Amino acid sequence: MEKKNIDWSNLGFGYIETEKRFVSNYKNGAWDEGALVSDSMITMSECAGVLQYAQTVFEGMKAYTTEDGRIVTFRPDLNAARMEDSCKRLQMPVFPQDKFIEAVSQVVEANAAYVPPYGSGATLYLRPYMFGSSPVIGVKPAEEYQFRIFATPVGPYFKGGVKPLTIKVSDFDRAAPNGTGHIKAGLNYAMSLHAIVTAHEEGYDENMYLDPKTRTKVEETGGANFLFITKDNKVVTPKSSSILPSITRRSLMQVAKDYLGLEVEEREVYVDELENFAECGLCGTAAVISPVGKVVNHGKEICFPSGMNDMGPVTKKLYDTLTGIQMGRIEAPEGWIHVIK
Ligand code: PLP
Ligand code: COI
Repeated sequence: MEKKNIDWSNLGFGYIETEKRFVSNYKNGAWDEGALVSDSMITMSECAGVLQYAQTVFEGMKAYTTEDGRIVTFRPDLNAARMEDSCKRLQMPVFPQDKFIEAVSQVVEANAAYVPPYGSGATLYLRPYMFGSSPVIGVKPAEEYQFRIFATPVGPYFKGGVKPLTIKVSDFDRAAPNGTGHIKAGLNYAMSLHAIVTAHEEGYDENMYLDPKTRTKVEETGGANFLFITKDNKVVTPKSSSILPSITRRSLMQVAKDYLGLEVEEREVYVDELENFAECGLCGTAAVISPVGKVVNHGKEICFPSGMNDMGPVTKKLYDTLTGIQMGRIEAPEGWIHVIK
């Protein structure tokens, strides 16, 4: 199979239309078989649930080319399970988890020419999503839904690759105490747009959101969880019921413990203790692990000892081990790597 003529190493995190996407429709209480289609356009009612009341959820995952030339995905079962949780919270029908994984494989295989080559620094980003497609005008769930998956080749999420980021402690909240912060609903991202545009205008790379109830604890950014490294090399990550349970973060905590022999702790992290940490990073499918050099809390600068030029040494080890597992250089724990071809 001939790869597309794309400048893989210079890709940013953007949308490039690929050849095939998976589409399945839910009508009269059941999903149809679903199929790969070529048309990237969607036609639906002007009154669709997604358009009026934001009834939509999504996932983010990647396909990788391994060192030995296979194409794989990373823990797609966890994306399928998380999408189920998201759907239930927004009163949407669940797309069966086994069919989700099968559809992911079909989309990757059909777009194999767009899976970036090993070593290019790029990957094929996959975006499964579902939305209410039938008309609703009174506030209630739609009756019909569409589930789709498209693929697009991507490079690093943050411009500048692995250069440490500067983060602003945001005055906006991303989630409500008993709201939807723990699921992957489009509405969580819509309401973060003003905050991210404001942060960018002020020269920051991202926002640190605080817990919406007390505004004293670290939650996450608009698209990634936080990891901190203590001065004695413990890996700490915030525990909260209003953040997205990142698959990358859950995997990294296991990697830290089982591969690197580090102590790990998931606990509440107070903004006031940030200055005690040696390293800080953001983790997620898009972010992979992006180092944070500085957090600015209303004019007070917290500069991590790892500095503004390089990833901290423990963060780097975590990064190398995780990406090594994803690209087949390091043996993966049982069930983590799903081989497509
Ligand atoms: N937090 C938010 C708000 C996200 O959008 C994402 C991205 O999916 C993550 C965390 C990281 O999750 P994952 O590692 O499963 O991609
Ligand atoms: C992902 O990491 O897959 C996400 O969905 C985050 C988004 C900000 C791109």
